[in-house]
Amino acid sequence: MLTAQLVDHILTTIPGRTVGVLGDLFLDRYLDIDPALNEPSVETGLTAYQVVGVRSYPGAAGTVINNLAALGVGHIYPIACIGDDGEGYELRQALGKMPAVEQGGIFLSATRRTPTYTKPMLGKEELNRLDIKNRTPTPEDIQDRVIALLDEAWPRLDALLVLDQVSEEDCGVVTRKVRDHLAQLAERDPAKFVLADSREQIGLFRNVCAKPNEREICEAVDWCPWDEEREAQDKALALAHATGRHVFLTRGEKDIFLPTPWKREGTTEGSGATVVPTYPVSGPIDICGAGDSCSAGIASAMVSGLTHAQAAAFGNLVASITIQQIGVTGTAPPDLVRKRWNEVNK
Ligand SMILES: Nc1ncnc2c1ncn2[C@@H]1O[C@H](COP(=O)(O)OP(=O)(O)OP(=O)(O)O)[C@@H](O)[C@H]1O
Ligand SMILES: [Mg+2]
Repeated sequence: MLTAQLVDHILTTIPGRTVGVLGDLFLDRYLDIDPALNEPSVETGLTAYQVVGVRSYPGAAGTVINNLAALGVGHIYPIACIGDDGEGYELRQALGKMPAVEQGGIFLSATRRTPTYTKPMLGKEELNRLDIKNRTPTPEDIQDRVIALLDEAWPRLDALLVLDQVSEEDCGVVTRKVRDHLAQLAERDPAKFVLADSREQIGLFRNVCAKPNEREICEAVDWCPWDEEREAQDKALALAHATGRHVFLTRGEKDIFLPTPWKREGTTEGSGATVVPTYPVSGPIDICGAGDSCSAGIASAMVSGLTHAQAAAFGNLVASITIQQIGVTGTAPPDLVRKRWNEVNK
C-alpha cells in the first residue's frame, strides 16, 4: 500500500502545501509545583503550592496543528475564536513558535474564554485538573465571523481538518450553522479534502470525510444495525453513504476501517470498504493525541495526491511513532517517519 518512494514523496511535497484547521483551539497548561517550597497560607491556613514553572502547549485543534507542523506542512491556517484573555495570549505565543502557522484566522472575543486545561503537577503527581470552558452557545456574530474566515481561506487551502472537541452542543467553534455551511462548500468542491473529527456530532457532518473512533461512531449515528458485532463497521458504512465521502474509522491498535462512498446515481463509484492495518508497536505506549497525529498524517498524504487507503496507512505510520512518546503529546518529524518506515519494513 505504502512504499519508501511514496513516504518520501509525501515528506517532500507537504512543505509546499497549505492545510487549514477549523475548530476548537485549547490551551494545555502545566503548573510545575515544588513540594519542598510548600507554605501555609496566612489567610486560610491551607497549604499554598509554589509554582516554579509554567509550560503551555496548544491543545485540541492545537494538537493537530503541532503534528502538521512537525511533519513539515509548509503553511497551516487555523480558523478559531479564542478569548481576549491571558490564556489566549499564552496560546498565541505557543503557536508563534511554529513558523508554518499563520494566525490571521484566529480572532479574539471579549465575551468568550480561551478553553484551557490546567494541570497542577505536584512533583510527578498530577493534581485535580482545572478546566475553563464556554458553557453558553457561541453567539451568532462569532459564528458568522468563523464562516466568513472559512469562505475567505477556502480557495487557497489544499485540505481542511475540522476538529469539534467541545462536548456541549453549539458552544464551540463548529456549531450547527458552521457545519451546514461547510457542507455547502464541500458539496460544490468535492475534490478538496476535508476531514472531520468530532467527539459527539460526527453523524451530523455531510459532504466531508469523517474520522471517528468506534465509540464516536456508535454513539453518533442513529441507525440500528442487525449485527451488534459489526455495529461500528456498519454505522461507518451508513455514514459513508450519508456523506458521500470516505470514512476513516480508527479501531485503535487494530486497523482503520475505510468504507468508500456508496454507488450514486450517474457515477461509477462502487461500495465496499478497505481494512488498513496499523503498524504494531512493542513496549510502552501513550495514546494521548494518537487520533490527532493520525489525522495530520492522513491529510499530509491526501494533499500529496495519494489514495484514501494509502493516506490511512500513512496516518497509521505517523500515529505508531507518536504513541511511543510517553508523557507528552507526541509528534513525528520527517527523520522519525523515515526511520520508522525502515523499521516496519524489516
Ligand atoms: N496500540 C496501538 N498500536 C499501534 N497503533 C495504534 C495503537 N493505538 C492507536 N494506534 C494508532 O492511533 C490511531 C488512532 O487511535 P484511536 O482509534 O484510539 O483514535 P482516537 O480514539 O481518536 O484517539 P484520541 O484519543 O487521540 O482521539 C489508530 O488509527 C492507530 O493508527
Ligand atoms: Mg479522537
